[in-house]
Amino acid sequence: MQEKIIILDFGSQTTQLIARRLRELDTFCEILPYNKFPVGDDSVIGVILAGSPYSVYDPEAFKVDLSQFMGRIPVLGICYGAQFISHTLGGRVEPANSREYGRANLGFIDSESPLFKGFDSGSQVWMSHGDTITALPQGYHAIASTDNVHYAAYQADEMPVYGVQFHPEVSHSLQGTLLLRNFVVDICGGHQDWSPANFVETTVEELRKQIGKDRVILGLSGGVDSSVSAVLLNRAIGHQLTCIFVDHGMLRKDEFKNVMRDYEGLGLNVIGVDASEKFFQDLAGVKEPEKKRKIIGRDFIEVFDAEARKITDARWLAQGTIYPDRIESLNITGKVIKSHHNVGGLPEEMNLQLCEPLRWLFKDEVRRVGRQLGMPEHLISRHPFPGPGLAVRILGDITREKVRVLQEADDIFIQGLRQWGLYDQVWQAGAILLSEVRSVGVMGDERTYENPVALRAVTSSDAMTADWAHLPYDFLAQVSNEIINKVRGVNRVCYDISSKPPATIEWE
Ligand code: XMP
Repeated sequence: MQEKIIILDFGSQTTQLIARRLRELDTFCEILPYNKFPVGDDSVIGVILAGSPYSVYDPEAFKVDLSQFMGRIPVLGICYGAQFISHTLGGRVEPANSREYGRANLGFIDSESPLFKGFDSGSQVWMSHGDTITALPQGYHAIASTDNVHYAAYQADEMPVYGVQFHPEVSHSLQGTLLLRNFVVDICGGHQDWSPANFVETTVEELRKQIGKDRVILGLSGGVDSSVSAVLLNRAIGHQLTCIFVDHGMLRKDEFKNVMRDYEGLGLNVIGVDASEKFFQDLAGVKEPEKKRKIIGRDFIEVFDAEARKITDARWLAQGTIYPDRIESLNITGKVIKSHHNVGGLPEEMNLQLCEPLRWLFKDEVRRVGRQLGMPEHLISRHPFPGPGLAVRILGDITREKVRVLQEADDIFIQGLRQWGLYDQVWQAGAILLSEVRSVGVMGDERTYENPVALRAVTSSDAMTADWAHLPYDFLAQVSNEIINKVRGVNRVCYDISSKPPATIEWE
């Protein structure tokens, strides 16, 4: 049985970060809504109560029944979690004189407390709170203070119950990971046994049990999530897995050919479907971005569905869904939001069961698993690429010729990033064809009247926010020259210096 820590979500933005930090400590954890603690699950070795946008005094504040776990397993409250425990057990929580936000130093640390083992005196932590604990319940004592916050951390005298007012999960708490390690390893007795090797071994075993002799189909996109899912399934059930890779004609230059070769090299049973003619026909004359997306989505399902139906005895549809796609998190209205990417839309009568082998993994863990499976690095570390492909990077309607022009420019940009050692420093990069704009230029003695291309490269950690990448001028100069000299139809290159927000990563 895989031991785990439960993180109860009270709606804070940083709850996912706690999970990420624990995973970095090779510890398996699950985020659950505050009222869904799995009573009776023996694999739970500790529980963390996370932050919340509410004050404990708000009538709508989220409340949890502490008796479900307190006294049975170790408990750590963070920010609201710490206030909630204190408030519920008879301590006092009051509005702070001023909202405390930012860096603070732990002037006092109780060196006897296992939570602070190895801490430096004056260790920097990150505070973000409006309320503060002004009295602890009976049987509790302070284990750390800052200049402004007397009860910056506390623990119970007789039970493994701890609270911290600061946020150990954010990187500005310089020894935050050490605190979480002390909690998970020393206090909860965790074994730090969540590793890519362990994950591969147990998942392969589970997949064999789950699937038996059935057949499985999986839609490949060339992206890391679907590729790692396929290789994992291939290891578990071999050629009972059929992968389908649809070429809509708007992939990068030679992408379909190259990725098919990679997949075949990995021993995958993969059917490549060139459906580009259908997509180009259906997109003819369509300019509006959302319409393009809808047509591509619909056509994709039609093509995938037609292929999948040929595998008449398929029982399972595998998907590359990862953990952030599935985390149910609470927003401040108290409603549960569930965002779930689905390749699907496959007709219900096909009656396929879903198989999502990466459903517990964060993106960086997917990459670690891919490496563990021996996949080539260029497949694992490739940039994200939108499902509709270059269609959302050609402003205006789409033709084969425009796609060809953009593929050439994009290829020069991406190869350049690789040659200059910049590819892995950016989250995502690509070229955009401004096909409805024309400008005058001069080449040799000839006047040109052609389209500009915009280059876009961003840094990001999750695509929710992004900054434009500050690429070296020399690099941009070389790429710009090469594109204008080599790509017929382009006579001007711009570099996009907008961040997200307010811009988005893609132009459409
Ligand atoms: P935006 O443009 O919203 O992009 O800042 C955020 C991330 O999502 C990708 N993206 C898409 N991916 N289908 C996809 O599969 C889409 O329609 C789509 N639109 C944007 C984008 O490439 C970036 O990584």
